[in-house]
Amino acid sequence: MKFQGSDQYVATQDLMLAVNAAVTLQRPLLVKGEPGTGKTMLAEEVASALKLPLLQWHIKSTTKAQQGLYEYDAVSRLRDSQLGDAATADKVRNIANYIVKGVLWQAFTADQPVALLIDEIDKADIEFPNDLLREIDRMEFYVYETRELIRARHRPIVFITSNNEKELPDAFLRRCFFHYIKFPDAETMRAIVDVHFPGLKQELLSAALKTFYDVRQLPGIKKKPSTSELLDWLKLLVAEDIPLEALQSKDEKVSVPPLVGALLKNEQDVTLFEKLVFMQRHNR
Ligand SMILES: Nc1ncnc2c1ncn2[C@@H]1O[C@H](COP(=O)(O)OP(=O)(O)OP(=O)(O)O)[C@@H](O)[C@H]1O
Ligand SMILES: [Mg+2]
Repeated sequence: MKFQGSDQYVATQDLMLAVNAAVTLQRPLLVKGEPGTGKTMLAEEVASALKLPLLQWHIKSTTKAQQGLYEYDAVSRLRDSQLGDAATADKVRNIANYIVKGVLWQAFTADQPVALLIDEIDKADIEFPNDLLREIDRMEFYVYETRELIRARHRPIVFITSNNEKELPDAFLRRCFFHYIKFPDAETMRAIVDVHFPGLKQELLSAALKTFYDVRQLPGIKKKPSTSELLDWLKLLVAEDIPLEALQSKDEKVSVPPLVGALLKNEQDVTLFEKLVFMQRHNR
């Protein structure tokens, strides 16, 4: 099983190497990178390229590690116990009927190998990764209520993404293979755009890319636009049929590019950009 990228996803050589290394080592692949650089999509694409079902676990600030294993639904059991008919009474007696399986449990007990995405692990509190050490390492956990050990029948291919909002503990890092998705250079970006908009006019794309990388290099910019924002912007440019001239800065008339709201997401950055354009105009 080797991941080679796909026709919807442009994977650089080092990203493919990292995916295959993680598969070989049988360790989770920890993927970091700016927002919108294709971390979540990577898991989806690898799963579909290797023809594995993908189980997804999207982490929020309130997510607890235990929820990924199982939860004991005491409330339903209590409610059922008050109903009083014979069939329900039977059900109530067996606590296993009230154990709700989490994503990890499903991944461990699936009939075939699966891919598992733990998305945005840095959103949870600091204990979360520590609480999953054994599960991720040994691929097993114990269910105290029913006294059974759940062990992975097939080791899932695990993807963990992080936006770096919190540091991850060392013990956790030791168990992962790490890859940082570098921001795509212009050539890779062309390939990515080509996947989404085949047949886009090359002049328009060149002009748009120039503006895009200029915006990213604005000194002091608060939020750099990323791949997905560029794609949004291009989509708008095409939909609104914006002419090439509107993007190319002709000597006399340098102006803020149209629909720049797709790229810049706060007023300081827009002001900064307007100033730059203004200065360029006066330097000519
Ligand atoms: N290498 C790539 N090939 C094709 N499309 C890409 C690539 N990278 C990013 N994209 C596009 O960017 C969009 C955003 O990607 P994705 O949601 O995976 O980003 P992310 O890194 O998970 O962002 P976040 O950190 O905000 O969750 C995708 O839907 C896809 O359209
Ligand atoms: Mg994501």
